[in-house]
Amino acid sequence: MTLPSTVALAANSLAKSIEAGGRGEEVIVELAELGQIRQKDLDDHRTNGAVFTPYSVAEELVQQVGIDAQDIVCDPSVGPGGFLLAAAEHKFRQGEAVPSILEALRGIDIDPVTVEVARTTLQLWGLWRGHEWLPVNHLIVGDALLDIPDDWFGRCDVVVGNPPFLGQLKSDTARDPARGEVLRERFGARYTAYLDESMLFLLLGVELSGESGTVALILPASLMGSESSRLAREWIDDKLPLKDLWVGGRSVFEVAAVEVVAPILREPQSRKCRVISYESKKAIEVSAVADGQWSRLLAALNGIPVVNISNQSTLSDQASVTADFRDAYYWLAERVIESDRGDVRPKLATVGLIDPFRFMHGEVQTRFAKQKFERPVVEIEDNPPPKLQKWLDQRLVPKLLVATQTRIVECYADFKGELLPSTPLLSVIPAKETHLWHLLAALASPAASAWLGCIAAGTGLSQTTIRIRASMLADLPLPTSPPNWDEGAYLARKIHEETVDEQTYIRFGEVMNQAYNASSDVLLWWWLEELKKKQA
Ligand SMILES: C[S@@+](CC[C@H](N)C(=O)[O-])C[C@H]1O[C@@H](n2cnc3c(N)ncnc32)[C@H](O)[C@@H]1O
Repeated sequence: MTLPSTVALAANSLAKSIEAGGRGEEVIVELAELGQIRQKDLDDHRTNGAVFTPYSVAEELVQQVGIDAQDIVCDPSVGPGGFLLAAAEHKFRQGEAVPSILEALRGIDIDPVTVEVARTTLQLWGLWRGHEWLPVNHLIVGDALLDIPDDWFGRCDVVVGNPPFLGQLKSDTARDPARGEVLRERFGARYTAYLDESMLFLLLGVELSGESGTVALILPASLMGSESSRLAREWIDDKLPLKDLWVGGRSVFEVAAVEVVAPILREPQSRKCRVISYESKKAIEVSAVADGQWSRLLAALNGIPVVNISNQSTLSDQASVTADFRDAYYWLAERVIESDRGDVRPKLATVGLIDPFRFMHGEVQTRFAKQKFERPVVEIEDNPPPKLQKWLDQRLVPKLLVATQTRIVECYADFKGELLPSTPLLSVIPAKETHLWHLLAALASPAASAWLGCIAAGTGLSQTTIRIRASMLADLPLPTSPPNWDEGAYLARKIHEETVDEQTYIRFGEVMNQAYNASSDVLLWWWLEELKKKQA
């Protein structure tokens, strides 16, 4: 396999200047640049997830992982070799000889040209640091999830890298069904159809790692709390627990703005985890998590207090929690019209119109089906199709509407049953109408926000928002102290119906903390601060 001409040109010129001697530390930047030149040649980086890691990020992660001089280091989606380059430098600084450093590197990638770029990069590094052209023997071409050589399994001391992010909900990155079947057979119960490819690489990393090994791979932050990756996280926690979490944020990759993290897996020495922020350079220490609850660590970095609320009885015992289906959206799309104040037709509710305790119809503009509306209402025809009539009958009842991309729960009580929700709003329909205000109090409580924040941190569009799913909401434990819950319901209704002062919110928060047996000033003030940000 030959190098692309652009890379070959840069590599030749670098080789000449290294051979001429006297080159300093700036060579590293030029070596890493070879990967960036290759990146520019790839016209569609999305379909195989080929977004190469900036060298400074690879270097930082290698530092965080801590590599010993003799460690075998593997990058299972090696790309142009940035992580192996950083590992080689790290070992060199510990005094390891160049030939044995190169011999201890392992890399595989599905793209043969990019593997050649990695080989050239590492050989040039060897030339610079060791003054001779040395072979790089363990860089191979193949599908890492299926073609790893047997003798790599269980033998790698460090597995580090940035696997392809291939979400399964988008057609351009979804695997074809035949490959899905092969992977299902390969990964067994840990595989789910919607599992992002990068999580399969993390499973592979654990298999490659020796018992005292370390695995650190960059992944989309959403995998810390997503349902499709839960089984994989649980399996990993059982084998090689989450020790630390490196949080890269959204600015790591220039071509792909996605929130990223790198779980650092290794046998723990203590029950503490570190959460390290790349952007703020802040690190916090928190209690270790178990059973795949990795989003708790992200939540801790975002300042969400840990709450331990539990009750056999959950929201689903007293209400149905539903997301709306696409057909309802398309049906609505043709019937939503602008209206005047006082219009009695059902009002359209969108996520943008819901704030905590508030429905801002007529106060703020909202978008629906690519149009802007001030006061959207729904013009219902005489005889809607039976499926839609059923949907209308189910929705035009007293209910709670919950927004889905939020920092704290944003919930509004449609006690007259006059609003029609548009996806992705969630509807919580109480089994008994009289429970509406109690359920509003539970959902709007500080404890509910913190509980949801801990299980779903990282799943939202930004690091600090969560995507609330119907199934999560259904599992929300209900308060355990009835008298406090009664008072909370009374206050929730008051906040909902009147303009109240801050003391009422404080009292609501306090009393609902008591209702949940979770009294905590930290929890109360965190929630109030978030509420204020929303109301500002
Ligand atoms: C996000 S890039 C990262 C490359 C490199 N680790 C880095 O950080 O710069 C992912 C790489 O995975 C490769 N890749 C995609 N699917 C693969 C597979 N099934 N097996 C091995 N490599 C794969 C792509 O060719 C690409 O080079």
